[in-house]
Amino acid sequence: MAGQSPVASLAQAPLIAPSILAADFARLADETAAVHGADWLHVDVMDNHFVPNLTLGLPVVESLLKVTDIPMDCHLMIEDPARWAPPYAEAGAYNVTFHAEATDDPRAVARDIRAAGARAGLSVKPGTPIDPYLEILRDFDTLLVMSVEPGFGGQKFMPEVLAKVAAVRALVDAGELTVVVEIDGGINADTIEAAAEAGVDCFVAGSAVYSAADPAEAVASLRRRAAAASPHLS
Ligand code: DX5
Ligand code: ZN
Repeated sequence: MAGQSPVASLAQAPLIAPSILAADFARLADETAAVHGADWLHVDVMDNHFVPNLTLGLPVVESLLKVTDIPMDCHLMIEDPARWAPPYAEAGAYNVTFHAEATDDPRAVARDIRAAGARAGLSVKPGTPIDPYLEILRDFDTLLVMSVEPGFGGQKFMPEVLAKVAAVRALVDAGELTVVVEIDGGINADTIEAAAEAGVDCFVAGSAVYSAADPAEAVASLRRRAAAASPHLS
């Protein structure tokens, strides 16, 4: 809901958001059902311009929204988010994240997403510093720190991005920001603890969930690992 505090979500943190990029695209409804118990469903929208890959867009998101109650976390790796992001909010996405690198006016895009009824998220690539964006994070509900170069699943986690997580975590803990801190890329049983220790609230995991024999159990297992390693949640 527009303007709603992220605190309600944080009460359930750590949050696990399976990425359907690693699912079977011919069976998306079944693959969504396979991660029952997940906190958010992460949907990667790529336009083959902002990133060198093409996935799915609004019509698929609209269809998926009809078959799941899991709050949808749309990650837009696209150019011109001012034009394309608000319709995802209007369609019923819970959170709509776009890239800081893709627009000159991220505040305006966030305002339009919120006005259309969703939470607004800002994402930064691994090489993008967070300091220039700290001030405008007040206008966002979520911050998605990329821990791989956006575009493909199955890449290796980049631990150096955790310094950005820690910087934002400190501001949240000091009461200066209220964003949910999300991480995306290379999260698995071996990497999730370091991310949790740095202060992540929400963990996106694609291949680690969908390569498991039981994706729902993989979600639960990742959540247990994150909870045990999250100083800010204890
Ligand atoms: C990459 C996507 C990620 C991807 C993560 O650009 O934003 O959401 O699905 O996949 P894994 O967890 O396999 O790194
Ligand atoms: Zn993503």
